[in-house]
Amino acid sequence: MSEKHTQKLVIALTKGRILDEVLPLLEKAGVIPAEDITRSRKLIFDSNLPNVQLMVIRGSDVPTYVELGSADIGIAGKDMILEYGSRGFYEPLDLKIARCRMMTAAPVGSILNMPRLKVASKFVNIARDYFSGLGQQVDIIKLNGALELAPIMGLADCIVDIVDTGKTLSANGLEPRALITEISTRVIVNRASMKIKHTMVQDLLQRLQKAVESSQPNGS
Ligand code: PRP
Repeated sequence: MSEKHTQKLVIALTKGRILDEVLPLLEKAGVIPAEDITRSRKLIFDSNLPNVQLMVIRGSDVPTYVELGSADIGIAGKDMILEYGSRGFYEPLDLKIARCRMMTAAPVGSILNMPRLKVASKFVNIARDYFSGLGQQVDIIKLNGALELAPIMGLADCIVDIVDTGKTLSANGLEPRALITEISTRVIVNRASMKIKHTMVQDLLQRLQKAVESSQPNGS
C-alpha cells in the first residue's frame, strides 16, 4: 500500500489572527476543515482529505509539537520560531502573511545611553540575542502582554515587541527604534516526517507554495 493510504498528516495551526489568513491559503492548497474551526471549541479537526488532520494551538506551542513529532507540519509566526530557538525542524516555506516587524521601542525622545538597559519583552530569547549581538548589557524582564506599559510605569527603559501599524506604540507615548527582524508566517516540518512522509509533505508544500504565489499580486 502506498504512503498516502497508510499515514496521517497532522498540521498544527496557530490560533488567532494568523488562522484567519491561513485558512484561505490552506483552502487554495486543497485542505478544507470538515467544520468551521473559528466557531468551534474543539482543538483537533478532520479535513476534506481523509489523511489530513488540523490542530489549533497557541503559536508558541507550534514549534514544540513539530519538533517532538506530535504534529508533522506547523504553521507559526517567525517570532514564535525564533523565540523557541531550536533548529530541530525544517522551515521550508514563507507563507508571506501576518507580516510585521520585531522592533525595539522606547518612550518618545528618550535617550538610552545607560550602561545596563532594562528591557521588557515577551520575546526574551530574541531580546537577549539582539542586545548580546550589539554588546549591550541588559536586564531582561519577562512580561506576557501589554508591554507598552513597562516603560511608562518605570519597569523598563525599552521593550522588544511586534510592531504592525505602530498605533499601539504611539497610543502609549512610545516610538519604534531599531528593527530586529522582519516577521511573517512560516511552515515548519518535523525532520522525521520530512523523510517518512516525504510524498505527502512535499505534495502539500508544493500546493501551499502555489497558493502563496497566486496570492501575491506582484509576485513579491
Ligand atoms: C501585538 C503587539 C502590539 C500590537 C502591535 O499585540 O504586542 O501590542 O500587536 O500592533 P500595532 O503596531 O498594529 O499597534 P497583539 O494584539 O498580538 O496582542 P498580545 O498583546 O496578546 O500579543
